[in-house]
Amino acid sequence: MISLKDKDIISILDFTKEEILYILEISARMERETCPDILNGKILANLFFEPSTRTRLSFEAAMKRMGGQVIGFDELGTTSTVKGESLRDSVKIIEGYCDIIVLRHFLEGASRLTADSVSIPVVNAGDGASQHPTQTFVDLYAIMKAKGDIENLSVGFLGDLKYGRTAHSLAYALSHFNADMCFISPPSLRMPKDYIEELEIRDVSFQEVDSISEVSEKLDILYCTRIQKERFAEPVEYEKVRGLYKLSKSIMDELEIKDDLKILHPLPRVEEMDESLDATEYAMYFQQAHSGIPVREALLALVLGVIK
Ligand code: CP
Repeated sequence: MISLKDKDIISILDFTKEEILYILEISARMERETCPDILNGKILANLFFEPSTRTRLSFEAAMKRMGGQVIGFDELGTTSTVKGESLRDSVKIIEGYCDIIVLRHFLEGASRLTADSVSIPVVNAGDGASQHPTQTFVDLYAIMKAKGDIENLSVGFLGDLKYGRTAHSLAYALSHFNADMCFISPPSLRMPKDYIEELEIRDVSFQEVDSISEVSEKLDILYCTRIQKERFAEPVEYEKVRGLYKLSKSIMDELEIKDDLKILHPLPRVEEMDESLDATEYAMYFQQAHSGIPVREALLALVLGVIK
């Protein structure tokens, strides 16, 4: 019997394959059914110390669609952090105001610190360049919908694999599903050593290449990522890699690819993916973002214990 009641969602590595599949099953149920009252009386605190559109609003919409309420903030400047209050003190106060905390923070480890400091469930909505586990459940759900299964797929990760927290979490998750992974990036934006070592321990099949043309013909899924400008210590380093990858319909037409290749992207996009792709059969990224609602409904309902 799987129970996720009161479980923190900090790293995708905290979830077994069975738990991941169970979350996807409940997400599909949430997409089919409406549950307008199941979180009546529950309050979610959305604590966003970094910008967000999809994650914050889909958590808010998910909570409200199930009858719950939402408090929180979306910029550090309106909080007592600017007076010098520590994150630990802030969250120890906020836990008295709500039933669950959803935290996005610029520091790696901020969600773990929060979970260790409070007695209510904590959801990592992105911590620095580390992980973004709820995006991964959204990504897996989108892959499941596109391909009917998440086992045995060839998945290309394109772009900023150094700072791209969604790529880190997804690679870990796919290690449960016999994926063949291709990490496509310039050498300076390769998947960090810690992630590579963990994938090796897990005996995952992967290769690292510079160009999509080296692997495109075998891919079932192409997972594009934005180059994370805000995480570069020096602007000149960003300028060196800016615009290095630009997918467009005409580029896809030139590549050798499978007819049923699907392109995912956690969004937002900047320069790496042209709007000419949007009307193609490859584009899955808008449906992927919309899956944020049923997936986050499932996560909230499971962690708050109203679905077992
Ligand atoms: N995918 C994602 O995390 O988007 P936001 O930054 O808009 O939340």
